[in-house]
Amino acid sequence: MEIVTLFPTLIYQSKLKRSGSLNLRLIKEITELSKQDKLGRQWSKENYPGGYTSYASLSDLPYRSPTFAQFSEALEPHANQFAKSQGWDTRGRQLRMTSCWINIMPKGTYHTLHLHPHSVISGTYYVSTPPSSVSLKLEDPRMAFYMNAPVRSLRKNPSGDLYYHVKPVAGSFVMFESWLRHEVPPNQSLKPRISLSFNYDLEGAEDE
Ligand code: NI
Repeated sequence: MEIVTLFPTLIYQSKLKRSGSLNLRLIKEITELSKQDKLGRQWSKENYPGGYTSYASLSDLPYRSPTFAQFSEALEPHANQFAKSQGWDTRGRQLRMTSCWINIMPKGTYHTLHLHPHSVISGTYYVSTPPSSVSLKLEDPRMAFYMNAPVRSLRKNPSGDLYYHVKPVAGSFVMFESWLRHEVPPNQSLKPRISLSFNYDLEGAEDE
């Protein structure tokens, strides 16, 4: 008898080196940008209740500030490593962080289930994670096919959970393929949970 595990979903988790000083500078700039960004605050009011996101207003941060550029450069080798782990044949195209935006989540702010169309890798880096900061929830991509499947006992099958929870820790980050659905339930921390989210696309010439 043989049982094989097939069709894995890869999740890349790691930490940035010397993130302490980077995060201090990021927090300072994030605070300043969130004050200046009227358009983003207006958008957040309607789409991100109680919180602030620059998703719709300032999503090219690495091109605007050396601090965010440093962040993007530090993340790049990890994105390439993740692509390598997936065995992708990128046909001469390069992975590029095409968007990067701020998320400030005070207590009670949440982000409903979604995915990131048109990108290949998405993820989040944690800048400030006060106690009780809520975890990111990644959903089993086969969820839609489970209509009549028996419930799996996690005691008997620890990897059978339908969700994977990423505990946010300042200086750490997670990357996943952009089609993977995810959500952030209502935050529980008294001070805001601050993160940067990002998308990578494949850019450049494709082989003939
Ligand atoms: Ni997302």
